[in-house]
Amino acid sequence: MSIFGIKKSREEAAELILALETSCDETSAAVILRGRDIRSNIIASQVNTHKIFGGVVPEIASRKHMDNMTRVVENALQQAGIGWGDITALAVTRGPGLVGALLVGVSYAKGAALSLGIPLVGVHHIEGHIYANFLVHDNIQLPALCLVVSGGHTHLVQLQNHGELHILGATRDDAAGEAFDKIARVMGLGYPGGPLIEQLAKQGDAQAIDLPRAWLDSNSLDFSFSGLKSAVINYLHRANQRGEEVNKADLAASFQEAVVHVVTEKTRKAAQMYNAKQVLLAGGVAANGYLRSRLQSSLEQDGVTLLYPPPLLCTDNAAMIGCAGYYRLMLGDTASEALNAVPYLPLGSSQGI
Ligand code: KG4
Ligand code: ZN
Repeated sequence: MSIFGIKKSREEAAELILALETSCDETSAAVILRGRDIRSNIIASQVNTHKIFGGVVPEIASRKHMDNMTRVVENALQQAGIGWGDITALAVTRGPGLVGALLVGVSYAKGAALSLGIPLVGVHHIEGHIYANFLVHDNIQLPALCLVVSGGHTHLVQLQNHGELHILGATRDDAAGEAFDKIARVMGLGYPGGPLIEQLAKQGDAQAIDLPRAWLDSNSLDFSFSGLKSAVINYLHRANQRGEEVNKADLAASFQEAVVHVVTEKTRKAAQMYNAKQVLLAGGVAANGYLRSRLQSSLEQDGVTLLYPPPLLCTDNAAMIGCAGYYRLMLGDTASEALNAVPYLPLGSSQGI
């Protein structure tokens, strides 16, 4: 029996959700009305703190979340024009992510739900990314094929029904965003690498440098980016040893092309295999304009529509967690006091796992 409030009907409980996201380096709080209407979505990014280390430092991330949490939540309530007493449920990312960072959000959400006597929903971060699409598109049909490309995940997922997700393919090594970040680092561009590579690639020739694509076996919907990453590192080493200057714009464009080529072909194949009419694109790398347009024109050839959220809802934010939490709450999938942060949470898990 949950110690969190369950006195109301599911519809009443899902009316006005306060959502929290602290899985990595963004502290975010959002207020979502009836699952889709974003009343506020405050995002405090720690990127400037982690930048100097070239990546996210977990201990610093946890401390920053603790520093930011109260202020971010208060801003979210204020911007939505509501008080604590108006909130009808809480939703929080419970995994996957950095355990110390997740714990800040989970502990805060448990404390708030307990003191307010309202239901709490634990949300899978990747499910949240997928549901960012439901915040902006009202024509999504289930089952829906989803391509998730983030800093930690590259997944092809079938969203069969709300709360029922099946992984069709996944990366066997690096995630797409991770590859962007690592390549940007070795090229000396900075962190996070994705947007920097996208900008630089605009001035480069995507066919200039021949880089490998890992197709794996012919019907596989899995991905692998470690060979591509090594090829770029070797290319830079060789040029360095020979004292040759590297055209960084060409390298950025050729690398981006190699990632987008594989991701596009595999998604098109998945759409054909699963007879999909729509594809939902999600995750931080979904903010990449080159990926969006290449994927869109490829899928269009088969009459498949590509849907994606605006860039701010592609990268980490609490609004997407509120939306996914709404659908979980409507299924009655709420948390008990045993809710905990789970750094390697499997996709599709209900609250019990
Ligand atoms: O989804 P997200 O905010 O966090 C995770 O859940 O991992 O994704 C962050 C990732 C980073 O690797 C970042 O470099 C990448 O998304 N990213 C991009 C772009 N914007 C963010 N990658 C390519 N092009 C972009 N425009
Ligand atoms: Zn994310």
